[in-house]
Amino acid sequence: MKHKKAYINTLGCQMNVYDTGRMENMLAASGYDFTDSFWKADLVIINTCAIREKAVQKVYSFLGRICGIKRRKPHMVIAVAGCVAQQQSKWLTERFEGLDLVLGTHAVTRLPHYLERIGQGEGPIIDVEMTAEIDEAVPEPAHSQSADISTFVTIMRGCDNFCAYCVVPFVRGRETSRRPETIESEVRSLVAAGAREITLLGQNVNSYGKKEGLCAFPELLRRIHDIEGLARIRFVTSHPKDLSDSLINAFDTLPKLANHIHLPVQSGSDRVLDRMNRKYTRETYMDRVEKLRAVRPDIAISTDFIAGFPGETETDFADTIDLIRRVRFDTLFAFEYSDRPEAPARRFADKVDPLEKKRRLREILDTQAEITAQIYHGLVGTTQTVLVEGLSKKPRGQGDSPEISGRSSENRIVNFICPEDEESRLQGRLVDVSIERACANSLWGRMPDARNYGPAASIQAKGGKTNAA
Ligand code: 5AD
Ligand code: SF4
Repeated sequence: MKHKKAYINTLGCQMNVYDTGRMENMLAASGYDFTDSFWKADLVIINTCAIREKAVQKVYSFLGRICGIKRRKPHMVIAVAGCVAQQQSKWLTERFEGLDLVLGTHAVTRLPHYLERIGQGEGPIIDVEMTAEIDEAVPEPAHSQSADISTFVTIMRGCDNFCAYCVVPFVRGRETSRRPETIESEVRSLVAAGAREITLLGQNVNSYGKKEGLCAFPELLRRIHDIEGLARIRFVTSHPKDLSDSLINAFDTLPKLANHIHLPVQSGSDRVLDRMNRKYTRETYMDRVEKLRAVRPDIAISTDFIAGFPGETETDFADTIDLIRRVRFDTLFAFEYSDRPEAPARRFADKVDPLEKKRRLREILDTQAEITAQIYHGLVGTTQTVLVEGLSKKPRGQGDSPEISGRSSENRIVNFICPEDEESRLQGRLVDVSIERACANSLWGRMPDARNYGPAASIQAKGGKTNAA
């Protein structure tokens, strides 16, 4: 029998990457193959992001295109999943003729059921129901035989923080944690299938388990740390207000915890932080940074900023630039503020002029680029331990030697040339690389000969993504 082909377009954060993985597993179990071309697909799914205006625009233009193709290929099934599905369900089916399924953020596991009903002629179907019980809604996924070397596991979903600019609490619902034993067994099965690095995902992992009275996040880390064969643990995202001393201490006691933390600050101005409803001050943020550095002096800290939040003055913005210089982040992500339909900041009157937002965004990025360059140049001549993921995406063409790519514990991309015929053997291993050059967003080096490559990876491991974020 000819297998049906599915194409999935994943936008947005790692949560969506994880949910796409679950959908792929369910589709594979129902006999689907996958294709990289939506022209060849019988089923097209777009897993969407609503965090910023631009992300939503991408969804509309993709759907417009796919629904156009469907006019020529009427048997094609089109589904929208993720945050825009949750947010705009009814409007989507009205606006896009040919759309068969709107799968909300809590409905992922019901995908095969709906595909069956659509196969029997039903549709369009909308499921945007929000459920309270996460373990019911997120059974342990039957991960495929081989796992990516670096992969994700969702430990909780939703958010209760209601930052003034943010749509997440509305589209992902209330904060709910999965049980530690379910998480642990999922990590074990991924490691058995070849994963060496796990990133634990949640909107606010620092408050893991609090509501349900499960174990605290540092305890969950300890449990996962014990899993043999796992080389590194990462987690995102941490809310600065909930970054406890015991989590900071975990960086001391758990060597597998990567030497990196993503700690979104959003602004360097107390006045703006207060209006954002972030519940910490610039001083408490700096205090957390200092404590982290007391435990791990060379920890890489990355962050997020919003440029031009409503009411942000030149003085507030100067505080942001000052914070960037003081903290010396390893890297940062910055975004122009954009109104989200549900988020309260939409109603704030004093909006920043669009050109001014752009200018501030540029200044944030330029300030950080200078700091990243200084940090990266300082690493030339050092040796970095790299978890090898696969061939470089953009090889620099250094002779015929293969160039491969991985990440250091600090989450820096490291590309390096390795001896001929070694590349597949190195995949999934921790390799020491001498850094010879600093690029804008990556390091470049060479693997010294006759090295001990560290413990062998499972032979099932398949090439990981080199740029997960
Ligand atoms: N406008 C701009 N940036 C936003 N972010 C979240 N909501 C908005 C918004 N409305 C940014 C924050 C967050 C990151 C994931 O996206 O910086 O940390
Ligand atoms: Fe959004 Fe704030 Fe929750 Fe992060 S903590 S998901 S920014 S509401």
